[in-house]
Amino acid sequence: MSILVDQRSSTTGVELTVVVPSFNEIENVEPLIHLLGSALDGIEWEVIYVDDDSPDGTAAKVRELGQRNPRVRCVQRIGRRGLSTAVIEGMLASSAPYLAVIDADLQHDEKLLPRMLSTLKSDGLDIIVGSRYASGGAVGDWNKGRAAMSAIATRLARLVVPVPISDPMSGFFMLHRAAFERAMRRLSGHGFKILLDLFASTPTPYRFKELPYVFAERMHGESKLDSLVVWEYLMLLLNKLIGHWMPVRFALFAVVGGSGVIVHLTTLRLALISFTFPFAQSIATVCAMTSNFLLNNILTYRDQRLRGPKLAAGLLSFYAICSIGAFANVGIASAVFEQHYSWWVAGLAGSVVGVVWNYATSSVFTWRRR
Ligand code: GDD
Ligand code: MN
Repeated sequence: MSILVDQRSSTTGVELTVVVPSFNEIENVEPLIHLLGSALDGIEWEVIYVDDDSPDGTAAKVRELGQRNPRVRCVQRIGRRGLSTAVIEGMLASSAPYLAVIDADLQHDEKLLPRMLSTLKSDGLDIIVGSRYASGGAVGDWNKGRAAMSAIATRLARLVVPVPISDPMSGFFMLHRAAFERAMRRLSGHGFKILLDLFASTPTPYRFKELPYVFAERMHGESKLDSLVVWEYLMLLLNKLIGHWMPVRFALFAVVGGSGVIVHLTTLRLALISFTFPFAQSIATVCAMTSNFLLNNILTYRDQRLRGPKLAAGLLSFYAICSIGAFANVGIASAVFEQHYSWWVAGLAGSVVGVVWNYATSSVFTWRRR
């Protein structure tokens, strides 16, 4: 027998890895592991928590239980955040042929896991999705706002995943390693919606089935779903829709730039009522740059939003960058115009150079990655 085979365990190794993304879930660790143990009796399973260095000490708690139970493992990430990338890295840390994802907060029904596994095996499928919206499933005690938001997000998902899946937002599913590997190099990894990302990224459509479950209420800890999560979801959709042609951030930056033109002309018209043209034009320019800066800060760069003193410093750097951009714009446009191109070709060429310059330099100096 090969020395690589551990004599104490069966020769089959782990069959199912349950990946659990976690952030501040310390009180839910022990109950979940206990529930997984009962639900997965008779299956060779392991659980991998992927914890983003939770301040409450979730990772230490997982390792403590791992000392008593070798099925329990922890990947602790430092200086990183993100539900989707946590799930991806948990899967990459496993060697099991079957991979499941379940939330750390006991809101998903772990008792469904054995049926997910047997269905996945027997029906020759790629992925089984736990669904709150299939018949027999439910969202539990959600307030109207959250339910409406989930319904809208589900509709929007159809734009990028044209398959009849009732709950593409689900964070509870199980798939074959091969199905994960087909998609893994194309995943965007943004935000919360790893299932949607998988469906939108696989080169060959997944053969899937949904199994209903009831979304339970959270007992301990808090939900991390906030406006940033919503923004990241929209970025994911846009990325899948237009990402082949241009980076989503650049597209947003250009749209904000377009809104700046409207701000500029409106301000100019109003300022001309009481000021001379050069002065009115200066006011309009500053207003447009400021509004572009603020919009980019909450829209294009929401994930790196500047606040407080950094906001002021960012604004100043943005003014400086845009001023150089305006010089480049005028210079290029005039040069093109002198080559006897029509006025609009020249104007457009100048604007494109200006916006590319502004985008490239502000992404380095104004909203540099922390
Ligand atoms: N590692 C890591 N990093 N884990 C995270 C992060 C993060 O930045 N943010 C959240 N998590 C973990 C939480 O600890 C929890 O285990 C799980 O991801 C889901 O987060 P919740 O904050 O509980 O989200 P939710 O209950 O509002 O949303 C759930 O249901 C949605 C359906 O409405 C999630 O399953 C979503 O994926 C799902 O779409
Ligand atoms: Mn939750």
